[in-house]
Amino acid sequence: MGASGSLPAPLGLLAELTHRCPLGCPYCSNPLALDKRDNELDTATWARVFREAASLGVLQVHLSGGEPAARRDLPELVRAACEAGLYSNLITSAVGLTPQTLGGLADAGLDHVQISIQDSDEASADHIAGYKGASTRKRAISGEVVKLGLPLTINMVVHRANIGRIESMVELALSLGASRVEIAHVQYYGWALKNRATLMPTREQVDEAVRQVEMLRAKHQGRIVIDAVVPDYYARFPKPCVGGWGRRSLNVTPAGRVLPCHAAEVIPGLEFWNVREHSLADIWGASPAFAAFRGTDWMQEPCKSCARRDQDFGGCRCQAFILTGDARAADPVCHLSPQHALVAQLAEEREDTVYSYRSS
Ligand code: SF4
Ligand code: FES
Repeated sequence: MGASGSLPAPLGLLAELTHRCPLGCPYCSNPLALDKRDNELDTATWARVFREAASLGVLQVHLSGGEPAARRDLPELVRAACEAGLYSNLITSAVGLTPQTLGGLADAGLDHVQISIQDSDEASADHIAGYKGASTRKRAISGEVVKLGLPLTINMVVHRANIGRIESMVELALSLGASRVEIAHVQYYGWALKNRATLMPTREQVDEAVRQVEMLRAKHQGRIVIDAVVPDYYARFPKPCVGGWGRRSLNVTPAGRVLPCHAAEVIPGLEFWNVREHSLADIWGASPAFAAFRGTDWMQEPCKSCARRDQDFGGCRCQAFILTGDARAADPVCHLSPQHALVAQLAEEREDTVYSYRSS
C-alpha cells in the first residue's frame, strides 16, 4: 500500500501503563528519559482508550511497562480491556505480583500472561535483572499462572551473557508449564543501545544458537511452541518492524503519547498526538507521526524499487535513524543497504564492561 491507499485497521495496542519497574535490565527498551508517575494516564482514560481501540478494530491489548503490576488499578484496567472486548496479554517481570493479585487479574478477565526470564542460571538471572531474588519470584509466579489455568508464555531476552544457555532456558520454560517460549535477541534501542558492546553476541554464538533452536523445536514438537528470529545485526534482510509503520499496531506511552512503535521518539521532528487531546481513531488516521512512514511512498532507493518493499517495509525506521542519521534510509541491517558495512562493523565491537543498568 502506498501512503495514498486505504487506511489499514490496527490489530494490536501496546499499553505502556507505567515506566516504573523494580528491575534494571540493561537491555530495557524503555526510553532513557522515562515518563514520571504523576504524569501517568488515569484509569478512566485508559478505559476510554481500550474502548476506542476496540472500535478501531484492535483485537489484542498488551499490558506492559515498565512493570504493569506497579499500577494499583491493574485489575480495573484488565476489567476495562475485557469489557471493551479485547484479548488481554499481561507482559510482566512477575516481580511485584503476588498469587492474590494474580487471582484478582484472572477474575477481572485476564486472558494471557507473558513472563520474562533473564537466564536459567539463577545468579546470572538476578545479576542481569539487577535485582536479587527476582528469578525465584518469577518461577513461583509462573507456577501460579499455570495453576489458574491461564496460558503462559516465557519470554527470554538473549545476549552475549546467556546465549549459550538457550537449551536450559527452554527446559526451564517447559518445567514451568509454559505453552510458548519467545527467544528474543536484544534489539539495540533505549538502554540496550547504551549497552550494545557489552550485550552483543559473537557470530559463532549466534550460529550455534540457531542450531540449538532447530534442535529444540524438533525435540519438543507438540509440547511447546518456540518462537525465535535471527538477531538484527546478523540478519541478511531486516524485520518488518511492528508489521509496518502505522499498519498493524499502536503504542500508548504512560503519559498518553501515541507512537507507531515503542522507540519512535528517537526520530527527531515527528509530531506525536496524545490521547488526552485526541481520540485514538483521529490519531491513527491523521496524526503526523503515523502518516510519516506509512505505506511505501516515503521510500528512497534501494527500498523504493525493491521487490521486498511490501514485505519488510524497509525494515525499522528507528534503527535506520539511529545507525545512519536518516529515518528514510533502508534499515542498514539489509545487505542491500549502502550502509550495511556499518552493521557488520558494529557487530564486531565488543567490550567486557559492567552493564549500565536502567534507572528510574
Ligand atoms: Fe527491505 Fe529496503 Fe532491503 Fe529491499 S532494500 S530488502 S525493501 S530494506
Ligand atoms: Fe521503531 Fe522499528 S522500533 S520502527
